[in-house]
Amino acid sequence: MDHVPYPDFSAADLDSLLAEVRHVTSAPVAATERTGADHVYLVGDDRVLFTGSFSNEEGRTVERGLVLRRWPTALLAGRADLVPPLGFYLDHDALLYRCALAYSLNTPLALHGHTGVGKTELVRYFASLLGAPVYRMNLHGLSTTDDIIGRLLPAGHGTVTFQDGLVTTAVRGGGLLLLEEMNATGQEVWFVLHGLLDGSRALVVVEKDNEVVHQHPWCRIYATFNPGEYPTLYPGTKELSAAYLRRWASVRMGFLDLEAERTILLEQLPALARPEHARMLDSMLQVADVCREILAKRVHAFNFVMSTGILQSWATLALHLGPVSAAKMAFYDLLDDRMKAIFREQIFAYATTWDLTRLDAGA
Ligand SMILES: Nc1ncnc2c1ncn2[C@@H]1O[C@H](COP(=O)(O)OP(=O)(O)OP(=O)(O)O)[C@@H](O)[C@H]1O
Ligand SMILES: [Mg+2]
Repeated sequence: MDHVPYPDFSAADLDSLLAEVRHVTSAPVAATERTGADHVYLVGDDRVLFTGSFSNEEGRTVERGLVLRRWPTALLAGRADLVPPLGFYLDHDALLYRCALAYSLNTPLALHGHTGVGKTELVRYFASLLGAPVYRMNLHGLSTTDDIIGRLLPAGHGTVTFQDGLVTTAVRGGGLLLLEEMNATGQEVWFVLHGLLDGSRALVVVEKDNEVVHQHPWCRIYATFNPGEYPTLYPGTKELSAAYLRRWASVRMGFLDLEAERTILLEQLPALARPEHARMLDSMLQVADVCREILAKRVHAFNFVMSTGILQSWATLALHLGPVSAAKMAFYDLLDDRMKAIFREQIFAYATTWDLTRLDAGA
């Protein structure tokens, strides 16, 4: 079955794009209650339309659309629990459309950016829209080719059996393979993946008589990594080789703007919308903004990432403890003295009117 059933759509505006999709697919095209956030529509009951705004060569806005087929339940047999539940994802920079594009072109896609900017969540949300299982593999300095491809295990009576690793499982049976922290692992692991990522799209299982496992038609490959240019923030990350990188398309994911952060926080923590929290939320977003600016300018050797993820845990605690005690629990107490001073004297003092006397108190 063709899971990318139509060529991509483009139109000068969204209404024309939706009309065109309706016309070509002969199916109803429906927004969901999440469309305002994810820019995704349902096409009939088994297809999904991903949309994104781009500029053309003359700088005019063009709406683009891609229709993908949802995973048939028959293909999920026994692994429906690997399909992530549908959560909330605020799409930005046409990220979901780009995931769909990589999927439709069968191009491995690497998402890179600071910790907590939503790389993993993006792939999981994309998978939940398609109803696709996710095989998520966390790579690290000690990952071995056995972890990835598989290993021989004793099977009793002096015999051995080969057990597929996670990558082989996804390549053999289909699913979204998500290789996390791709630059935390070493060259030997990348080399094993070369064959899968280039034209041959196959893994060779040396320990199983050189079995060639071809990429299942419903297998797609995604990866995440933190930027290698911040060694103090992400120790252990390695420079990825040019030979490896050319096999991937990549997207750099940046921080969201403050209004988008507000939307996510209010969605996840509705209690924050109460009027008595309005000033606290504004100040917390201001703090995030200042942190990101200092990080981007690389001043003061500032080595802290105020990600969407950290904001989320800070805000969760702040609803119970107020912003200052919550900041201590969410991140402040883990900082070194130099970073604490920057927060106290330059960030909190500048962006908030909070009473900071208890900031450095013990428990
Ligand atoms: N665009 C978004 N919409 C909704 N939630 C988001 C978004 N971006 C980030 N988040 C939230 O931020 C948290 C961190 O996201 P995620 O775990 O995907 O980060 P990451 O980029 O994979 O980080 P790491 O590099 O540490 O693995 C998640 O709980 C997620 O809910
Ligand atoms: Mg992640």
